[in-house]
Amino acid sequence: MLNSLETKVQPYIEPNFSGRTPSRSRTTPQHELHARLARFNARRLCPEFIRDDWQTALRDEYEARIEEGKFIETERAEIQTMAAEAPMEAHAFVAWFETLKQCGPGQGDALFPWLAEHATHADMCWFLTQEAAGEAGFEDLVAMSQVKLPVQAKLEMARNYWDEMGRGHERGMHGPMLANAVTELELEPTIESTVWESLALANLMVALATNRRYAYQSIGALGAIEMTAPGRVSLVNEGLIRLKAPTSARLYFQLHAGLDIEHSKAWNAEVLYSLVEVDPRAAKPLAEGALMRLASGARCFRRYREHFGLAASPGLD
Ligand SMILES: [Fe+2]
Ligand SMILES: [Fe+2]
Repeated sequence: MLNSLETKVQPYIEPNFSGRTPSRSRTTPQHELHARLARFNARRLCPEFIRDDWQTALRDEYEARIEEGKFIETERAEIQTMAAEAPMEAHAFVAWFETLKQCGPGQGDALFPWLAEHATHADMCWFLTQEAAGEAGFEDLVAMSQVKLPVQAKLEMARNYWDEMGRGHERGMHGPMLANAVTELELEPTIESTVWESLALANLMVALATNRRYAYQSIGALGAIEMTAPGRVSLVNEGLIRLKAPTSARLYFQLHAGLDIEHSKAWNAEVLYSLVEVDPRAAKPLAEGALMRLASGARCFRRYREHFGLAASPGLD
């Protein structure tokens, strides 16, 4: 299953796709931190049975959650200047949020037109393997984030979740659709073979959704995904068409290129607007979540371009 990273540790073997420059060694302190958090998250989200050593497990969890909290606070500190620009009035806030689609971190990155027009099959597979590792399971993040929210926001998140669930039909579920892409393209995402930037992206999203003190940051981050994904996934879909990938391998990307435009409109109007209208203090944490998510995505794109030997996007690095 794509959304829960394989946790077994495997010796790292650098992929050698089309003679590209190999990425740096994974054994950096950042990779160790994010591999540790990724394994913690895989355990944390997995349904379990009662263990005799549950008290020891809880103590270990405490340590992991402290480490996670420090990671999030570091990310949060880095986007404070931009977050301070977010207005606290609901209409103005949504208008500001929507500008992130053009001006937010990572928008218009040169990686995606390159994937559409030039990437080889092996390049695309490497990229999608990294992205698979950064996919934390949108439906579960929505479900965890909507707990105890006011009615208007809760209802829209329920509609969004229902779409994720294929409106009750397994064939329409988004998670398995992405898993199909992984199977069709024979991708094998593992923690060890994933760059730390991609692990950090997944760790960020899980941390925001599972800690209620970051409830608003999580909602802002999910809204940023809905708003910015269509442009990227449509270029990935174009690349997969050019590379003659089977339809089942690109269905997830094709679907989200259109559907997330509608999801984003509804999220901004029904979730973001209503939360800020009810309590203007929500504006700042919603903005922080969106900016942390976009900055984390931008960091991945930079790392991927570095792997592919691509020049930096003008003005973006
Ligand atoms: Fe989806
Ligand atoms: Fe969506």
